[in-house]
Amino acid sequence: MKNNALKHPIFKIISQSAEALGIDAYVIGGFVRDFILKRGQHKDIDIVAIGSGIDLARQVAKNIPNHPKVQIFKTYGTAMLRYEDIEVEFVGARKESYTEESRNPIVENGTLEDDQNRRDFTINAMALDLNPSRFGDLLDPFDGLKDLDAKLIRTPLDPDITYSDDPLRMMRAIRFATQLNFTIENASLIAISKNKDRIKIITKERIVVELNKILESEVPSIGFLLLEQTGLLDYILPELVALKGIDEKEGQRHKDNFYHTLEVVDNIAQNTDDLWLRWAALLHDIGKAPTKKFSKKVGWTFHGHEFEGSKMVYRLFKRLKMPLNEKMKFVQKLVLMSSRPIALAQDVTDSAVRRLVFDAGDYVDDLMILCEADITTKNPRKFKKYHNNFKLVRDKIIEVEERDQIRNFQPPISGEEIMAAFGLKPSREIGTIKERIKEAILEGEIPNEHKAAYDLMLEEGKRLGLTQVIASD
Ligand code: CTP
Repeated sequence: MKNNALKHPIFKIISQSAEALGIDAYVIGGFVRDFILKRGQHKDIDIVAIGSGIDLARQVAKNIPNHPKVQIFKTYGTAMLRYEDIEVEFVGARKESYTEESRNPIVENGTLEDDQNRRDFTINAMALDLNPSRFGDLLDPFDGLKDLDAKLIRTPLDPDITYSDDPLRMMRAIRFATQLNFTIENASLIAISKNKDRIKIITKERIVVELNKILESEVPSIGFLLLEQTGLLDYILPELVALKGIDEKEGQRHKDNFYHTLEVVDNIAQNTDDLWLRWAALLHDIGKAPTKKFSKKVGWTFHGHEFEGSKMVYRLFKRLKMPLNEKMKFVQKLVLMSSRPIALAQDVTDSAVRRLVFDAGDYVDDLMILCEADITTKNPRKFKKYHNNFKLVRDKIIEVEERDQIRNFQPPISGEEIMAAFGLKPSREIGTIKERIKEAILEGEIPNEHKAAYDLMLEEGKRLGLTQVIASD
């Protein structure tokens, strides 16, 4: 470890700066963990000073040729500077005690051990010595190295204390377990279940950061299963919990839409890194809980769940203080359209594909990715059939697009042109004619071209009793 981890020139500079101030300093946390895991260069470096972190940051800035600006966070006693593409954060070693109401602790100066004690997990509490005579030595009082090897998330202190002190760590434990494919030790899981309602003191924004990291992982279901198992999901995404369970009436059962959803999310994670498309997969069935009905005739139905689900997306984003912008609209639209290609795959006609492309616009490719991920049947024959059908739909989309240019459809005849042709003022007839032209194009009656559309306009105008005032060319 000695020579490799601290190769970056910044570490020598910090080491010399600490020596000049007569204090010890250590690299701690994610940088050390990710180096050992060979996860690639960690861009955030956390430095603990046995003394003032702010003074050390100022000294380091002096010793860097271009003297980067030091950002100081007085309330937390921390400082930050940027060096090339790396962000270095400095903090004085501390001993912390927490209160019931807040995750912000009362802080006193402490030793390195005090500081390591108050960290979240053993794998995040390992430190590398920056003192010149011990440069690169690993200080690992809680056997973090062993836990890395055993792929275990464990807290340095009694987990009940660690999680109750800072409930965000419950989310972090599950996030690391998902990202790293680690197991959370049993005592921790029990402590999380016990302290779950303390998640209420954590801001929505911080919860969403962790949720997003879970969703961005290779196998996101690991995290959602843990969230469900510990009871945290009830507080964060009750809409998903409501999908759990299988009802049976008169011998008819429906599938468990919670586990189905997680399968869809894992499937989509193999085909896209787009966070919002993954959110769409996670939420695509949330409308099923409030729309579920049973009738003797048709069994279980979820009529209108896509529309209900898309309305729920807005409320959910708002509650979690997520952006209510085009990202939310994208998720809404995908949820709303999530069953369209499936219905279509039964019978792939040109006009149905044209309508799909018209309605989905630029989202059509993402919609296809979502629908393919939605195929979770365990019957290999059906699995193959559905995928083949979707391949047909995809081919047809390309074909129809090349011919008809339906994506981001612009009507070939404008309202002005219709008004000029019949000497009209703005009126209802214009809308009727435009709608007729659009329908004719989507149905494949006429090509998406000006000439054909103009002729249809004249025909439709005649039908409406309008008189042409200028001759067509
Ligand atoms: N830490 C903690 N409790 C928290 C947040 C952070 O004890 N609620 C400590 C951990 O030692 C952690 C370090 O602060 O390693 C840095 O935190 P952060 O930068 O948030 O996480 P990293 O571990 O660096 O991991 P990542 O960058 O993947 O979030």
